Amino acid sequence: MQILADLNGKRMPLSEVMVPALDRGFLFGDAIYEVLRIYQGRSWLLDEHWQRLGRSLESIRIQGVDLARLRARALDLIDASGVQEGMIYIQVTRGAGVRRTHAFPPQATPLELLWVEGFTDPYAEQRRIGTSVITLPDIRWDRCDVKSTNLLANVLGSQAAKEAGCLEALLYLPDGTMTEGTHTSFFGVLDGQVLTAPNSNAILPGITRGLVLRLAASAGITLREHVLKRDDLKRVSELFLTGTTTEVMPIVRVDDQTIGNGKPGPVTLRLQEAYREVVREFTQ
Ligand code: PDD
Repeated sequence: MQILADLNGKRMPLSEVMVPALDRGFLFGDAIYEVLRIYQGRSWLLDEHWQRLGRSLESIRIQGVDLARLRARALDLIDASGVQEGMIYIQVTRGAGVRRTHAFPPQATPLELLWVEGFTDPYAEQRRIGTSVITLPDIRWDRCDVKSTNLLANVLGSQAAKEAGCLEALLYLPDGTMTEGTHTSFFGVLDGQVLTAPNSNAILPGITRGLVLRLAASAGITLREHVLKRDDLKRVSELFLTGTTTEVMPIVRVDDQTIGNGKPGPVTLRLQEAYREVVREFTQ
């Protein structure tokens, strides 16, 4: 099936999109991105994603992007694609200089690329039975709060997880502090409390993470933004991932260790159901 894209306001099939070799996203990973879920033809948590997009642009000082226009183009592209279940990918790079220099080129115009991709939810079964993850050292940089396309450490971590037959790698700092997954946020239940790392430069402020915080509060589930240590993983009764396409994903195995009784735990299931419920309300 053809995937519909928009490059700098021009609509075309994704397979026909060409990016200049001197584009800084290509050369340096000098770019930011967003991924939004589309449920029944409508973009989910649009305001939250747009706010983070603006923040990412500001953080790396990409100027000249009209966020309102970009947003209108994103919505038009979703409509034109006819996609009901899927995602929209949005990337903004600093553009191309006349030659390759590390410092910003004086007159680069940001490059804006969007595409809409339909899919059949690939995680439905794993969400029901739970998934396995590995742990790995977090070798990323010091601004993981910026949604940059500079994802080499995430790519290598995700590949290591795949080769171990797992869905995700949970990352930890040298002092044992758990940060997040390579492309997901994560939560644990320790001594009856749900914990997740507080927002900082060490993690991406996940949009789904934010929603789960709100869902837990309205369900009366005690949740604290407090880091888990790698040693805590031996004691947690539940673990789960959150992310735009992952939604709320129970973890039943970490490295060689089974979590709880090897089945999704009760708190995870409640939050999963709360998530489904708000999506149901959104799509009605
Ligand atoms: N990943 N942490 C990292 C490092 C991520 O890349 C992502 C998202 C998340 C979850 O954030 P959110 O709930 O806003 O999707 C956490 C996207 C989906 C990706 O790279 O494809």
